[in-house]
Amino acid sequence: MSSYFALLAVLSTVSASAIPTTAPPKTLLISSSAPSSKLADCMKSSYYGTYGGSADSQDHIYLPTEECLSGKTTLNELTSGSLVPLSVNNVDNGRIVWVGQAGVDPSLLSTNIVDSWEMISGRSQEVSLVSADDTAQHVLSNTQSHNQPIQLLHQSPTSMLLHVPQSYLPIIDTLLPSHLVPVALPSKPLPAIANGWEPVPGHFAKHLANITKHLRFSPEIDKIVSEGIEHNQIRRDVRFLTGEAPSGIESRHSFTPGAVKAAHWIKEKVEASGADCHLHIFLDGFAPNVICHYPSSLNSTEHVILSAHYDSRGSFGSTRAPGGDDDGSGTGHLLSVAHAVGTQGVKFKKQVVLAFFAGEEQGLLGSHAYAEHLHAKNTTILLQVQADMLAYHAPGEPLQLGLPESIHLPEATYLIGNLSQIYSPELVVGRTAACCSDHQSFVSYGFPATQVFERNGWIADPFYHNSGDLSQRDGYDFEQIVAIAKVTLSGLLSVAGYRLVLEA
Ligand SMILES: *[C@@H]1O[C@H](CO)[C@@H](O)[C@H](O)[C@H]1NC(C)=O
Ligand SMILES: *[C@@H]1O[C@H](CO)[C@@H](O)[C@H](O)[C@H]1NC(C)=O
Ligand SMILES: *[C@@H]1O[C@H](CO)[C@@H](O)[C@H](O)[C@H]1NC(C)=O
Ligand SMILES: *[C@@H]1O[C@H](CO)[C@@H](O)[C@H](O)[C@H]1NC(C)=O
Ligand SMILES: [Zn+2]
Repeated sequence: MSSYFALLAVLSTVSASAIPTTAPPKTLLISSSAPSSKLADCMKSSYYGTYGGSADSQDHIYLPTEECLSGKTTLNELTSGSLVPLSVNNVDNGRIVWVGQAGVDPSLLSTNIVDSWEMISGRSQEVSLVSADDTAQHVLSNTQSHNQPIQLLHQSPTSMLLHVPQSYLPIIDTLLPSHLVPVALPSKPLPAIANGWEPVPGHFAKHLANITKHLRFSPEIDKIVSEGIEHNQIRRDVRFLTGEAPSGIESRHSFTPGAVKAAHWIKEKVEASGADCHLHIFLDGFAPNVICHYPSSLNSTEHVILSAHYDSRGSFGSTRAPGGDDDGSGTGHLLSVAHAVGTQGVKFKKQVVLAFFAGEEQGLLGSHAYAEHLHAKNTTILLQVQADMLAYHAPGEPLQLGLPESIHLPEATYLIGNLSQIYSPELVVGRTAACCSDHQSFVSYGFPATQVFERNGWIADPFYHNSGDLSQRDGYDFEQIVAIAKVTLSGLLSVAGYRLVLEA
């Protein structure tokens, strides 16, 4: 990591020549120092998020003004960091995207960050000449994107910051080696730190801790989750989504007809369980989020949200993206929760949302838009849980539940861990540094959120982000999806409250 002084020297020469004088110059600051209340106010109000699944190699990103940076104490408050001058074009046309390690087993790492950038840049030229994906090709040929390449703004041993022009955003995932994942920076600074820096207001954490403290086995919840979550149904639904069963879905990449077909199919299935669903269009051309809502039986305004992403990512150059594990498993799990709510006659006391996100593979775009919307509406969220990759464990390993090591609310994670021991004791509960899923968008807006994942430790699935991610293969275990669905449904019942209305 270079020192500030050296970088500031570079910065002053660049800003003098390259940045038009009409717009205020901007500088990205990538720091290993977590945001804290000690930061200068101008830094707090320029916070753009925390990135990376491993607590010891996180990037905290700020976009302070020049005036803020030149403040006497601004940089002294941080232990280390790098400054990256931006030209106005960088900011206005397209998105800044963090790209980092997904957390795969080190033995599966194919390239380092430097070689990865060469690969991305090479592939991005190739894709504008040769069609890798018909729909994306259409987008590319209808813009003037060819003039503006993807740009490397910064790299460290574990991550990169890219400027991705609008036209490349739909296919940024297809250009990355499989072990790297993108997360788009928000287009405005995040609010949480501006309000005095409390990542999640304390009473939400206390509320969840109190629920955890008073947890005990409920025969009624056990009956609902055991009878409501059905192995055969999950298998049928996952195989419909992957195209292993005849569905006509070849890919659920956000820019394919298969994704749109899946969205309508999901909407219909969840509505059959008594929810109201709508298609939430968040960005032109992207498949929509499917947002399904069970109203509160007590007119409560408090929400509990379970989610998964239904879009998928395949191998470079292939149009097949079955996404059986990533995230057909989380999607199938969510459909089984809906099915259980319907068949068991569950009426929730709080508002409950089952959210199926798109645009996850291009940088958490769908969930970010949704979380931003909920924040703008001042929505109260008691708990949000994302299910991303639930099915795979290495052959011979026991059933597992991996909980996040960083980027989560610890009290939310403890609640899920404790529920697992009560309702799915067959799961070995541990931690994972697997990175970057949609719960992160909720954490960014100060909502109490966590994640459930398939394995303790690294991602070990050899078909991760690969066109061979089908459900009929070694290590893909429907029993593990069932066991995790019992945990998330028990969480929904415990936090949202419920009564049973049995129809004659
Ligand atoms: C904690 O939970 C218990 C049992 O659900 C409840 O009776 C109590 O009021 C809660 N306490 C707080 C401070 O919310
Ligand atoms: C909820 O609101 C509706 C409409 O305002 C009202 O008719 C109903 O009685 C309320 N229910 C409860 C449980 O307060
Ligand atoms: C947001 O909601 C909280 C709690 O429900 C309330 O106290 C606050 O006034 C609301 N703020 C706005 C801007 O609506
Ligand atoms: C259960 O909750 C406690 C905090 O109440 C936490 O220390 C513990 O790690 C949790 N157990 C699991 C398996 O997550
Ligand atoms: Zn995923």
